[in-house]
Amino acid sequence: MSITPRIPSLIPESAPFTPEQRTWLNGLFAGIISLDESVTPLSNAEAAKLLPDVVPAPAAEADDGAPWHDPAMPIADRMKLAEGKALPRRMMAAMAQQDCSQCGYNCKDYADAIFSKKEGRLNLCVPGGKDTARMLKTLFAEMGAPAAAEAAPAPAPIVSAPGRSRDNPVIATFISRRRLNKEGSQKDTWHIEFDLAESGLDYIVGDSFGIFPTNDGALVDAVLAALAAPADFPIGGRTLRDVLTDGVSLSPAPDMLFQFISYLTGGERKKKAKALAEGRDPDGDAATLDVLAALQKFSGIRPDPEAFIEALDPLQPRVYSISSSLKSNPGRVSLTVDAVRYAVGDRTRLGVASTFLASRVKPGDKIRVYVQKAQHFALPADPGKPIIMIGPGTGLAPFRAFLQERLAAKAPGPNWLYFGHQRSDYDFFYEDELKEMRKSGHLTRLTLAWSRDAEEKIYVQHRMRDEGRDLWDWISHGAHIYVCGDALRMAKDVERALIDVVAEHGKRSPEDAARFVADLKKNDRYQADVY
Ligand SMILES: Cc1cc2nc3c(=O)[nH]c(=O)nc-3n(C[C@H](O)[C@H](O)[C@H](O)COP(=O)(O)OP(=O)(O)OC[C@H]3O[C@@H](n4cnc5c(N)ncnc54)[C@H](O)[C@@H]3O)c2cc1C
Ligand SMILES: NC(=O)c1ccc[n+]([C@@H]2O[C@H](COP(=O)([O-])OP(=O)(O)OC[C@H]3O[C@@H](n4cnc5c(N)ncnc54)[C@H](OP(=O)(O)O)[C@@H]3O)[C@@H](O)[C@H]2O)c1
Repeated sequence: MSITPRIPSLIPESAPFTPEQRTWLNGLFAGIISLDESVTPLSNAEAAKLLPDVVPAPAAEADDGAPWHDPAMPIADRMKLAEGKALPRRMMAAMAQQDCSQCGYNCKDYADAIFSKKEGRLNLCVPGGKDTARMLKTLFAEMGAPAAAEAAPAPAPIVSAPGRSRDNPVIATFISRRRLNKEGSQKDTWHIEFDLAESGLDYIVGDSFGIFPTNDGALVDAVLAALAAPADFPIGGRTLRDVLTDGVSLSPAPDMLFQFISYLTGGERKKKAKALAEGRDPDGDAATLDVLAALQKFSGIRPDPEAFIEALDPLQPRVYSISSSLKSNPGRVSLTVDAVRYAVGDRTRLGVASTFLASRVKPGDKIRVYVQKAQHFALPADPGKPIIMIGPGTGLAPFRAFLQERLAAKAPGPNWLYFGHQRSDYDFFYEDELKEMRKSGHLTRLTLAWSRDAEEKIYVQHRMRDEGRDLWDWISHGAHIYVCGDALRMAKDVERALIDVVAEHGKRSPEDAARFVADLKKNDRYQADVY
């Protein structure tokens, strides 16, 4: 379902603005159409038409090694490393460096697409959030205004096959959910199943599944109450409630909302709203301001509902590693989803997509979905090759799929799984299946790391070091290594452990061991799916 259709004059005549304010807001929103796909679901080509044309920059420095390509590095440090580089490289450095594909690209390709004007949306980097969107906006401004004579026709829109990208989703039916933690766990992780029959979609193991969630009904009600607006207020042929439910993000309040609020307030409140719109934090609460909290902070503003909606970000899809193989689950796909919930003050904040899957969607509901093809995350072409899979927490998801696939295909290669989580009694996902595979010999080796069973934290990388000799033996026999899960800490620590294992047991200097692991990566023998 799409939301608000294009609004020719973006601010309605009935909105409570002076002519001067209306003109300013119309100009402002027209200017940010290319930044906000919720305002007007433009095609890439339409959005690109709104962008200034530029003289092409010097060829991107493809061989500069992209030293900023590290998801654990803060954005300020990444931009410092990219200083003096061509604009597309600096745009790449502004991305979150996870190559997570949620924007529909990897980080480099998203930057190149913006620079070459094939992509007009600057707010697609989910893990980069507001910091990345702000930096892209600044860099985009460097591209300058078009000279009329230089204006070139906009590129043709790239439309994927149905269900193959976030821009062309299809319908799948939600079947069921089952909790994977036992009562008493501190985590809330779910096995989720969809029926793909209606969509005709297929996938291969390693791919991810994109879903379009809806916002929590109680949160929508609270926003409606804070707006003091009727739920059935008409917006582009839909009701305000519907648009708040599936059209716009109610999570971090965007700069645009604060800018909008600054026009509706005066005095100190105006100054604060302006400061927040500029990325400053006058009261030290900026990080906690979702849309509802922003409305409550500036209570009593009574914005025009249509203009308010225009000031919000689009509700973006989220992707999840596929945890099933079609070979053993024809017409179905499963996911392994950790529900994100955390408290700010006396309100529980909900991760929109994970809690949609973990608690709101009902069996039989039709959901917009797509398959996001994996880039460099796939089983070895040779089924006889050994594989080592390292996946703590929900990182286990793609490896369940790998194991199912190799079982169904009778692949002779040995399989070694590292799984870790908080407590063995509560958080051993798919315990029966894994134990059965271990018993049958399909899972050649299963190494477990429980971080909260004892005083001392045991993580997967500790187990890797303990078992370094055997790991090295598998690697020297051509094993492919995979890691999945947390990008910020775990993936880095696992790579460090791997380098240490290669140095110790492969009898190499630390530098040679690092080069060895880098070569494994280059040759697609060390692959990561991290987020
Ligand atoms: C390729 C890929 C594969 C993935 N696979 C999986 C998977 O298999 N399983 C899985 O569960 N997830 C997976 N994810 C993550 C998933 O896409 C979502 O990011 C995740 O479910 C959260 O989305 P959400 O909409 O529920 O939360 P959002 O509404 O996006 O909220 C999450 C945001 O809330 C904030 N937040 C979260 N916790 C806290 C806290 N304690 N305190 C303060 N702020 C906080 C952070 O800003 C965080 O970014 C994957 C991501 C990628 C890119
Ligand atoms: N965007 C989102 O909001 C979102 C949603 C889901 C997941 N994630 C991220 O994805 C990751 C996966 O989450 P999850 O629920 O599957 O599990 P998780 O929180 O990563 O926990 C899985 C296991 O990994 C351990 N661990 C923590 N730090 C580690 C490290 N540096 N190296 C190795 N292991 C480490 C945890 O131990 P302890 O906890 O005991 O230290 C736990 O035993 C999370 O880290 C989370 O940040 C993000």
